[in-house]
Amino acid sequence: MSDKMINDEALDLIFREARTRNGWEDRDVSRTLMQAVYDLTKMGPTSANCSPARFVFITSKAAKERLKPHLSAGNIAKTMASPCCVIIAYDLEFAKQLPKLFPHTDATSWFNGIEEETAFRNGTLQGGYLMIAARALGLDCGPMSGFNQDGVNKEFFSGTSYKANFLCNIGYGTDENLFARSPRLSFDEACEIA
Ligand SMILES: Cc1cc2nc3c(=O)[nH]c(=O)nc-3n(C[C@H](O)[C@H](O)[C@H](O)COP(=O)(O)O)c2cc1C
Repeated sequence: MSDKMINDEALDLIFREARTRNGWEDRDVSRTLMQAVYDLTKMGPTSANCSPARFVFITSKAAKERLKPHLSAGNIAKTMASPCCVIIAYDLEFAKQLPKLFPHTDATSWFNGIEEETAFRNGTLQGGYLMIAARALGLDCGPMSGFNQDGVNKEFFSGTSYKANFLCNIGYGTDENLFARSPRLSFDEACEIA
């Protein structure tokens, strides 16, 4: 497998030409597509395959209204306009799934005392996988950390062991309110080879 790679067109779609979108076409994301996004996302690696991320795909007007009061002012209009806003959350009780997810050994004690660190780290990675998966399937993304985490937790996760991490609008983006592409750090600025 290591001598294979995706082509330039795919790299453009996922990375070079993909932008964080602030405007959205009035075009739904189907349940089939949401499932396809998840089915790629779930294959990304996590510690001991613990897979702590949980995703709420918010599509209905009613659910959007529940989310709205907890969004930062600058994130309201675009989120209400997007066909789907995903709450990327993590489950603090992810270890309960380890007998299923990591069956070759009992890993349940490995994360004692580091549940939140583990869930946040791996759940964040899974949120990244979700964005790559969505882009690979032709969707655009608009990730957001501008929201009230306690508010979203109370509204959507009351009585559960889930916590919201970040939000991501997905759909078919437009150029509305699109900034010029910001620079990135060069290899020499961000990396070293030791
Ligand atoms: C975790 C995360 C949180 C972000 N939070 C917000 C936000 O609250 N509001 C917003 O308008 N943009 C937000 N952004 C968008 C970033 O500013 C944007 O992805 C970055 O500038 C790169 O833009 P580009 O993908 O168009 O190159 C967030 C991005 C990420 C990944």
